[in-house]
Amino acid sequence: MSPSLRMSHLRKSYLTKEGAVVRAISDLSFELNAGERLAILGPSGCGKTSCLRILAGLDEHYSGVIHWATNLSQDASRLRSATVFQGDSTLPWMSVEQNIAIGMSGLTLDAASKRKRVEKYLDLVGLRDFARVFPHELSGGMRQRVAIARALATEPLLLLMDEPLAALDAQTRLVMQTELHRIWAQTRSTVVYVTHDVDEALSLSDRLLVMTARPGREKAMMGASFDRVMEPLERRSLPIFAQMQAKIWGLVAEEVGQKLTRETAP
Ligand SMILES: Nc1ncnc2c1ncn2[C@@H]1O[C@H](COP(=O)(O)OP(=O)(O)OP(=O)(O)O)[C@@H](O)[C@H]1O
Ligand SMILES: [Mg+2]
Repeated sequence: MSPSLRMSHLRKSYLTKEGAVVRAISDLSFELNAGERLAILGPSGCGKTSCLRILAGLDEHYSGVIHWATNLSQDASRLRSATVFQGDSTLPWMSVEQNIAIGMSGLTLDAASKRKRVEKYLDLVGLRDFARVFPHELSGGMRQRVAIARALATEPLLLLMDEPLAALDAQTRLVMQTELHRIWAQTRSTVVYVTHDVDEALSLSDRLLVMTARPGREKAMMGASFDRVMEPLERRSLPIFAQMQAKIWGLVAEEVGQKLTRETAP
């Protein structure tokens, strides 16, 4: 299968207000096939969000090449990428259905098609009965489902998720992992999923990329050894899950250790 996205030798630096150069990503390359889910793990500050912002088209100041296999210029009914961020990104003055529809404002879709998509994705995230409700009347998990529906309604080539469940309590988080898996099984979206949670990465991905401490580059890329459609809870019950978890923790811990040593060095 030819990849739907190829990122080659991505490098990213920032210039601080004081004029110092911060090298965030030193060299990062990967390919993504259509319908594939890639989880990215790595210590804080290694460039995960920077990478997602670049893929989202929110930051054009980088070096390297990002090649998209699909030319979207003929299809103005979907976005190249849509992002779900960590915090609550619902707009409090809009109802749930308005919050979902706003994501499609840049697309060439007539009102009836937009309406249909809102209904489709309201159903998919299980919020049909909450269409007219405002975000303050929803739980954190429900608000995050609104943000996910807003991204999905743009039918993006690439769905970018930056720690989308990090603000939720542990139980809601587990339930939402199962929900995200179910949603993916129905949409077969191509996903880049950033998380600090090794279990979550193993539960929800086909491949895992572990990044080094800043400036970030690939430390390891590995396949998750499960049937792609296997649900998170089922994955967790397998012995291979614990083995992979230990291996990935080892890799991440090495890099977190590196980062702490550098930060505390005189
Ligand atoms: N606008 C900016 N100006 C200067 N430096 C920045 C800016 N944005 C990010 N950085 C720096 O770039 C590095 C990478 O940041 P980034 O947010 O991509 O990390 P991250 O891997 O997402 O971290 P976390 O896991 O904490 O979310 C960090 O050292 C950060 O301080
Ligand atoms: Mg981040």
